[in-house]
Amino acid sequence: MQEIQEPVEAEFSSVNRLIVENLESDVALIKDIGHHIVAAGGKRLRPLLTLLSARCCGYAGEEHIRFAAVVEFIHTATLLHDDVVDLSTLRRGRPTANTEFGNAASVLVGDFLYTRAFQLMVALGNIDLMQNMARTTNAIAEGEVLQLTRAGDASVVESQYLDVVTRKTATLFASACYGGGAIAAADSVRRKLLYEFGLNTGIAFQIFDDVLDYSGNPAELGKNVGDDLREGKLTLPTIQLLRTCSAQQRAVLEQAIAGQDAGQTEAVVAAVQSSGALDYATAMAQDYQQQALTILRELPDNVFRDAMAAIARLSVNRSQ
Ligand code: IPE
Ligand code: IPE
Ligand code: MG
Ligand code: MG
Repeated sequence: MQEIQEPVEAEFSSVNRLIVENLESDVALIKDIGHHIVAAGGKRLRPLLTLLSARCCGYAGEEHIRFAAVVEFIHTATLLHDDVVDLSTLRRGRPTANTEFGNAASVLVGDFLYTRAFQLMVALGNIDLMQNMARTTNAIAEGEVLQLTRAGDASVVESQYLDVVTRKTATLFASACYGGGAIAAADSVRRKLLYEFGLNTGIAFQIFDDVLDYSGNPAELGKNVGDDLREGKLTLPTIQLLRTCSAQQRAVLEQAIAGQDAGQTEAVVAAVQSSGALDYATAMAQDYQQQALTILRELPDNVFRDAMAAIARLSVNRSQ
């Protein structure tokens, strides 16, 4: 993390200040929930990508600080909503906002963060950046809804999984980078490279996140593991397991995904862990990471680019 933050240290502190300032509201519950999730930290990878992308393209102003805060607000809003949808109880090492304050409050404060992000973004007055982010937030919502409609469905295939991952996670990584380039007034070729770098990094990040759901340590991860199976959600590890397992194992997994036999959770997790499915998924995440690094080589060679490469590597080599 040190290697990643160092080149943009001062600006990163400004982003964190701006985030706290913009949680200000005379409605007490907004401040309470906002601080609950923001004070818990988070890795701040997306705002760091914004800062680094802008500086990589030679930017010397301060508008990237504001956009970085926008990106983190949007990310945090999606987490508040996602934890309600996923019935999650742990996030960033703390009880989730829905556990602590209830579903209704989490959804509404998520809306506050979303709309505050757009207020901050409009103040930048950059139409290209706004168009890009508007498309992305819409795609995130589509990705989450698409995934919801497939809960309990054991017939989901890899391409469908990748489509959801791209929409719900990778587009925000992509727009975080693209926006940095747009603020730096980088040409359209560079903006596109930044977008594609972010997209590939984001896909790698989410695939590896789905590996961690079967192999991670909750104390380090700050989230519960095993949630995907409990939610009846097929992710790459279980999609791969279904392609390689015995008919008997398949029946057990299909029942677990359909939510008909919660008692089999441990057996399924053990099967995922011993089947090689996690290696398969990790290898695919590494492929996307490699693609991201290849794209990055076409951008200006500087310390900011090096830090972006470190983020891509961290995405598939992390415990939190
Ligand atoms: C969590 O993202 C949501 C996913 C896309 C998997 P992060 O792991 O970046 O969350 P924080 O911000 O560090 O808590
Ligand atoms: C992350 O999705 C939330 C969004 C990308 C909107 P997941 O549900 O897969 O991730 P975690 O495990 O809750 O962080
Ligand atoms: Mg979730
Ligand atoms: Mg989810």
